[in-house]
Amino acid sequence: MTRHGRQNRRRLLSKGLELNEHTLSMRLERVAAHVPAGARLADIGSDHGYLPVALARRGAISAAVAGEVALTPFLSAQRTVRDNGLEAQVSVRHADGLAAIEPGDGITAVSVCGMGGETIRAILEAGKAYLSGQERLILQPNGGEQPLRQWLMDNGYRILVEEVLRENRFDYEIIVAERCEAVSYSAEQLYFGPLLMAARSPAFLVKWRRMLRQKQQTLDNFARARQAVPEEKVREMTRQARWISELLG
Ligand SMILES: C[S@@+](CC[C@H](N)C(=O)[O-])C[C@H]1O[C@@H](n2cnc3c(N)ncnc32)[C@H](O)[C@@H]1O
Repeated sequence: MTRHGRQNRRRLLSKGLELNEHTLSMRLERVAAHVPAGARLADIGSDHGYLPVALARRGAISAAVAGEVALTPFLSAQRTVRDNGLEAQVSVRHADGLAAIEPGDGITAVSVCGMGGETIRAILEAGKAYLSGQERLILQPNGGEQPLRQWLMDNGYRILVEEVLRENRFDYEIIVAERCEAVSYSAEQLYFGPLLMAARSPAFLVKWRRMLRQKQQTLDNFARARQAVPEEKVREMTRQARWISELLG
């Protein structure tokens, strides 16, 4: 589990709000909402297997694969599936990324959630051969959305739905994409999300007001830093702060 995940879990435990396959976090509940009814889902990096098990318990999917690269979460997912008597419907596999998918699975949706956008991108890039191109991708990056959207565009995916939500003091984005004809997004659209940017929801605006404050603080720190900060880093941060200011008007 990432530092972000551990912090989040500690906070939930301290509030007596640890979630499970019966009650998903709001974040996973929103991810679940984008899994088509009757899907054959591959949930990559499934940890406890809460998402596929909750969906199978509700009769919302017809089958699932829960893939985990790390042994402890793999065993935990196996336990969740066993405790719910879902062994026939949910296969738990100890595998790196999309290698959890086997040709006979007939997967129609792939979820990769709760990891950095760069990690999700690396999983998609390394595992392209396991995708037929017919699957819906439901991605929930913790940061690093821009490189993930870039990968989607470069690989012929159109973004169908985007959401931003705030839970336990973290902003989360959900990106749903499917393969289609070539699509082109501008640099700003890749940064903010083409649909989020157009919709300008209250949660989106709150997120970017907060991000602007953080960037301005970082730029102030760069200016005061005794050691030189690489020029390229300052230029990139300045450009992002300008984009955010323009977006917020
Ligand atoms: C923070 S947890 C998120 C769990 C769940 N998907 C969620 O959103 O709540 C990330 C999980 O991804 C797993 N993971 C990271 N890289 C992976 C990879 N290449 N293949 C499979 N699992 C991976 C980690 O072991 C960890 O259990």
